[in-house]
Amino acid sequence: LDNGLALTPPMGWLTWQRYRCKVDCNTYPDDCISEQLIRRTADIMAEEGYLEAGYNYIAIDDCWLEKQRSPDGKLVADRDRFPHGMKQLAKYVHHRGLKFGIYEDYGNTTCALYPGVMGHEQTDVDTLLGWDVDYIKLDGCAATPDDMKTGINFILEPRKPISLSPCEPDYGAIAEHCNLWRNWDDIDDSWASVSKIMNWFGDNQQRIQQYAGPGHWNDPDMLVIGNYGLSLDQARAQMAVWAVLAAPLLMSADLARMRPEFKEILLNRDIIAVNQDSLGKQGLRVSMKAKQHVWTRELSGDSYAVAIVNHIEGGPPQFSSLTFSEMAVPARSYTVQDLYHEEEDWILFANQNFTTRVNPTGVKFYQFVPLPSEERTRKS
Ligand code: GLA
Repeated sequence: LDNGLALTPPMGWLTWQRYRCKVDCNTYPDDCISEQLIRRTADIMAEEGYLEAGYNYIAIDDCWLEKQRSPDGKLVADRDRFPHGMKQLAKYVHHRGLKFGIYEDYGNTTCALYPGVMGHEQTDVDTLLGWDVDYIKLDGCAATPDDMKTGINFILEPRKPISLSPCEPDYGAIAEHCNLWRNWDDIDDSWASVSKIMNWFGDNQQRIQQYAGPGHWNDPDMLVIGNYGLSLDQARAQMAVWAVLAAPLLMSADLARMRPEFKEILLNRDIIAVNQDSLGKQGLRVSMKAKQHVWTRELSGDSYAVAIVNHIEGGPPQFSSLTFSEMAVPARSYTVQDLYHEEEDWILFANQNFTTRVNPTGVKFYQFVPLPSEERTRKS
């Protein structure tokens, strides 16, 4: 969508994966969808480096509504869980320097059976705009693909970043109307889910890559880093592949309980810079040899980001020797930077093979920067 927004993939935080539809605040005081959760998270984002690193959206997914509209047909936020209302909450979020996102569904109901937009288009746009919402995730449960087209058009008007999920879209049309769109299954808090999504993006890259670029992005779904399901290596692999894919970086984790080693992954400046690279080109899975999947993204300044993911689920770190063509990187000499900072920078010459070792269900993630002697620009 050419609205001047999302020129690089949006970054932020979204409730769904971690908090799902927890609405019972008595049983789940810290985990229910509520203004207390949003305020607490906004505080941490503003105070603990997330906002500074680029994560500037905070968004509520499904299950924020009262089951009934007001007598005059308006959407009403749950009165117990959002006692001060959405406008106040948006104000709080804005005061913390963040942007405020919210979920709705174009069908008669949301996926979790709260009121949907259909039949109330104008009223609902007015309501959301009246609350100063900056970002709308528009879902398609209970809507047909044709309904969705109408839905997108109506919601286009506010000219907000729009996330569309999770139907199988007509990408050309959607890229005109949305800043990002979910392509496939919902993510779960597990390596099985993360690696399945990686494989889907690899298998379908030829038909989806072309639709990604400044203003419009494919979305493999939220980062689940910092929850229960991913090891440190697996979390690094998700971050690396999401960076190569130019994916939106929407965390869904409890930032108050984030362990430092996971936080370090989420705040890795070099990797965020790859994700946010101004060329805006979605990277590709360029080779699969002995379960070592190589993902390469071309960056501005003739640099390349190369992630090698080891899909073998055991044994020692796997030795890999790769040619330039297996990495889809032009053969010349580069400074090789380990984006997880375990190795010192080193030089790879044009006539050498690239070698590394990758932990089981882990990643090595490098940036190849052309040597200055080759008259290529690079960051100093
Ligand atoms: C769908 C979406 C999820 C989430 C839920 C909410 O499953 O894909 O991301 O928004 O609906 O009910």
